[in-house]
Amino acid sequence: MITLNKLTKEYDLVGTKVQALKEVSLTIERGEYVAVMGPSGSGKSTLMHLLGILDNATSGQYLLENYDITSLPDREQARIRNKHFGFIFQSFNLFSELSALENVMLPMGYANVPMKQRRDRAAALLEEVGLGHRMHHLPTMMSGGEQQRVAIARSLSNEPDVILADEPTGNLPSDKGEEIMQMLEGFNKRGVTIVMVTHNPDQGKRARRRLFIKDGELWRDEGTLVKGA
Ligand SMILES: Nc1ncnc2c1ncn2[C@@H]1O[C@H](COP(=O)(O)OP(=O)(O)O)[C@@H](O)[C@H]1O
Ligand SMILES: [Mg+2]
Repeated sequence: MITLNKLTKEYDLVGTKVQALKEVSLTIERGEYVAVMGPSGSGKSTLMHLLGILDNATSGQYLLENYDITSLPDREQARIRNKHFGFIFQSFNLFSELSALENVMLPMGYANVPMKQRRDRAAALLEEVGLGHRMHHLPTMMSGGEQQRVAIARSLSNEPDVILADEPTGNLPSDKGEEIMQMLEGFNKRGVTIVMVTHNPDQGKRARRRLFIKDGELWRDEGTLVKGA
């Protein structure tokens, strides 16, 4: 479903260039459950941003369903991002002035889903993550585990093919982290592709495939289904 060919990302830092990713090539098939591992600063978040089309590579090629999205205009990239990807971040990234329900409705607004449908679907998703009783709460009135469940509901609002989760349990106590893991794994069983950054080796082992990144390079791809990737 996703193919990266020698994807490189350089950041400009006052005069010097930082190579955050160096010629990363890989293929991710629909339905996979992939853990991304590696030391801090190795390029994991950069890879997630590129996978989710939140940022463009400096060089290399990105194919989504064999369609080259590398040089599409921003507006078209945004449309593709909103349709195919859901995002979960370590720090939840909810809008603090919006209720749980409004946070989950938001991505459907960008996709022009009619208002009533937005509301109904957001409510159903919040029920699904066990927050039916918290729909009208602001994020600041919720625990970290609850906020991350709102973020999960939001990530699912446009029925994504892929959920990109960057250290989703990093700010949570282990029991709450386990709840999040089980939810993600449940969605994977229903066919959603999961790519998850984790520092936790036990979490990494639960994924069918592990990508190890060091100094911007993919140095090990463990459990890949794709020969020669
Ligand atoms: N927006 C940015 N501008 C400049 N340098 C960045 C930016 N984002 C990340 N970097 C640098 O790129 C490298 C990889 O960062 P990152 O992808 O965040 O690593 P990780 O998620 O593995 O900790 C680091 O050296 C980091 O300092
Ligand atoms: Mg990171």
